[in-house]
Amino acid sequence: MKQVLHGHIIHAPELGRLEIIENGYMYVEDGRICGLGQSLDPLWRDAECCDYSDCLIMQAFCDMHLHAPQYPMLGMGMDLPLLDWLNTYTFKTESRFKDVDYARQVYRRLAQELIANGTTRVCAFSSLHLESTRVLMEEFERAGICGYVGKVNMDRNGSPELEERTEDSIRDTIAWLDGCDPDAHIKPILTPRFTPSCTDELMAELGSMAKARGLRVQSHLSENLSEIDWVGSLHPDCKQYWETYEKYGLFGPYTVMAHCVHSDARELAAIKRNQVVVAHCPDSNINLISGVAPIRHMLDEGIWVTLGSDIAGGAILPMMGVIAAAIRSSKVRRISEQWHVDFLTVAEGYYLGTSSGARYFGDKDGFASGNSLHAIVVDDRDQVDTGRLSVRERFERSIYRADAHDIKAVYSAGVRVKG
Ligand code: GUN
Ligand code: FE
Repeated sequence: MKQVLHGHIIHAPELGRLEIIENGYMYVEDGRICGLGQSLDPLWRDAECCDYSDCLIMQAFCDMHLHAPQYPMLGMGMDLPLLDWLNTYTFKTESRFKDVDYARQVYRRLAQELIANGTTRVCAFSSLHLESTRVLMEEFERAGICGYVGKVNMDRNGSPELEERTEDSIRDTIAWLDGCDPDAHIKPILTPRFTPSCTDELMAELGSMAKARGLRVQSHLSENLSEIDWVGSLHPDCKQYWETYEKYGLFGPYTVMAHCVHSDARELAAIKRNQVVVAHCPDSNINLISGVAPIRHMLDEGIWVTLGSDIAGGAILPMMGVIAAAIRSSKVRRISEQWHVDFLTVAEGYYLGTSSGARYFGDKDGFASGNSLHAIVVDDRDQVDTGRLSVRERFERSIYRADAHDIKAVYSAGVRVKG
């Protein structure tokens, strides 16, 4: 099927550069972008035309780190640092997902809210529960979300209501992987919660599974200073946190590590060398008093940085808000580093929240030809002064101000899933 989308096209073909095509045309065939143009190609006159005149056609967002079973605690329990926060609020909340009906109800709402806000691709943590993880994958699939979901592994340092026995964790992970539909848009990713949650035996088993089945991995790295000390005492043979993953084959290309707030030069070099992907979660890092990640430095070093909401450490689900938080956080870093480092521009924030994540799913930057169509349409025509603003100004304002209400349509993998 051939489609043409018409409107003001704004995309991020490289870090820091926006390309804006006012009153432009996007050509799409069978869900894939074939090209962009300033005027309507006569060969496409018969295609289905989606007319979004004077609206903004932007790239849809990738949330590269979120905890689906923490959705019920969104916006609550922000008064404790990471380890106390996990023990006081988080494990209790996640333990409720033993109940599959509850999971169904919550995950359906979460999927709807993600799509309503233009997040079409994710890397998500489920809980340790096998059945509820299947439900999460089904609900994401049904809503039109693409990406990865992981059944969490945690066989130590949980709570009485949220912990697995090692053999159950392994057995359930295998059963879950074997039951996944290889043709689905939502695929499995191995998810050891973080080093303190997994015994050496479990980590070793997950590493073998990753290798044997060619699976991707996601986890947490160097988020909080107490966590880092704890990891050091659990693995005295490892000089640094990342080595506790590498030791077991869980620190390779396409491994997503959330946070990396306190990663030093040596750890950053290992991240780069191993082609690990950083999921920067700025709102979570402030809420849990973890620190301010050196994102500008990571980018300068050529590290692959993406963005995550990290709900419910993060309290902002819409990625436009997460982009704004990343920009703000980079300015805090600039202030605290005596103005020696640059902050992120809006164009850079947009790139990190869109193109940078999209690469994880096999796309090229921006609305490149060959990419699967993931786009949103923002209608800001009822906002103050829209008629007097440039498209670039309207784009900028949308990143800071638009909400689900202003997102008139959402396309995911070529299908209109909203509007
Ligand atoms: N580290 C281990 N588990 C978690 C979690 O649920 N959230 C965050 N932010 N960090 C973690
Ligand atoms: Fe997290």
